[in-house]
Amino acid sequence: MTITTNFATSRTEIAGHSITDLANQFGTPLYVYDSAVIAQRVADLQMFDDIRYAQKALSNIAILDRLRKQNVLVDAVSAGEIHRALAAGYEPHGEGHPIVYTADIFDREALELVKKHGIHVNCGSPDMIDQLGEVVPGADLTLRINPGFGHGHSQKTNTGGPQSKHGIWHGDLDECQRRADRYGITITGLHMHIGSGTDLEHLSKVCDSMRDAALSVGRTITTISAGGGLPVRYKKEETYVDLAAYYKLWNTVREELQTKFDHAVRLEIEPGRYLAAECGYLVTEIRAIKNMGENMFYLVDAGFNDLARPILYGAHHPISICSRSGAEDRPLVNVVVGGPLCESGDIFTQEEGGFVSHRELPRAEVGDLLILENAGAYGFVMASNYNSRLRASELLLEDGQAKVIRSRETFEQLLASETIPS
Ligand code: LLP
Repeated sequence: MTITTNFATSRTEIAGHSITDLANQFGTPLYVYDSAVIAQRVADLQMFDDIRYAQKALSNIAILDRLRKQNVLVDAVSAGEIHRALAAGYEPHGEGHPIVYTADIFDREALELVKKHGIHVNCGSPDMIDQLGEVVPGADLTLRINPGFGHGHSQKTNTGGPQSKHGIWHGDLDECQRRADRYGITITGLHMHIGSGTDLEHLSKVCDSMRDAALSVGRTITTISAGGGLPVRYKKEETYVDLAAYYKLWNTVREELQTKFDHAVRLEIEPGRYLAAECGYLVTEIRAIKNMGENMFYLVDAGFNDLARPILYGAHHPISICSRSGAEDRPLVNVVVGGPLCESGDIFTQEEGGFVSHRELPRAEVGDLLILENAGAYGFVMASNYNSRLRASELLLEDGQAKVIRSRETFEQLLASETIPS
């Protein structure tokens, strides 16, 4: 596995492109994605029969297009994400279900699309079985099971256990089977996703639950999904999951089921962060530097409207500085990095619980660029227009070229859906 984040606090290039040139040409704040990193992460997971990308992590249709061309399948959690998958060229039908709709509810638009395109459903509530059965009787179905425990990098990304709203409770399988039978629905797949940004210890606990659930449903099962959740390294001391060991655990379950069922069982994995996090950089410009008592602040032109992970989860992103003047070897100083929003929490250097913390970064000047790294997953997709700020543009670096894959929002677009009634 090639490790791409070097955790250096100074940086001049991304994938061979001068950051200063990118900022000059495309403006800031700017999301930049390095396609080679995505390809590397896809290659890491080739041992699984199917990689299904959880597009909620980074859903730009150019990214989906490139993943489709690398034979990666896609997951959609909303009607909007189904539209994105279709726009990126995914066929709704075909071997391994190119698009799967995974959710805990059917909103009406999504159910309509599922019916229209015959999209496979991974259902997270027993009520969804009835709702699907009413419009697509005889369908094949996957059940997303809550195994009774979960784990994530934050309590807010833990998706298992009795406090989680996600999935079908593991004790309700018989009831699901009864509901499915009523509509001639066949349960062909089982799926578990216990949380995002977890570790091997917790991820591997899922295997036993999957074995039990699959044996309880029986021979109709032809696919099992390990879900997502694979961590990436946001801090130097963090580690990746040993993918070979993880695969081995799942493959053992798969082989046991194949022997019991006497037919092939496909093994799927459903990562979002692992494929998308490390390819992404949020390039910002330092617009003010000021001292408040003992604290020095670098204020940049991106806020939590652009990258919400720090304020939401206390998430840590590596940060580097690109000096516009080309100055090297600047001394390190302790700084707090904040954005432009009228909220005290608009701070990129904070811990879970909202505590402002310092980061050692090179001494900078106003006009220097500050890069929030590993920002590809759950970065742009969670951006908003708070404070009526325009959403950033997105750039894909591939084959030595910088390609705009989303243009910066305009003030016209900002106001386009609003009307003043007479
Ligand atoms: N499958 C399901 C059913 C999921 O709910 C998720 C993530 C994934 C796969 C992908 O998980 P991943 O491989 O990315 O860990 N906004 C949060 C993460 C929320 C994850 C939601 N579900 C963050 O920024 O950390």
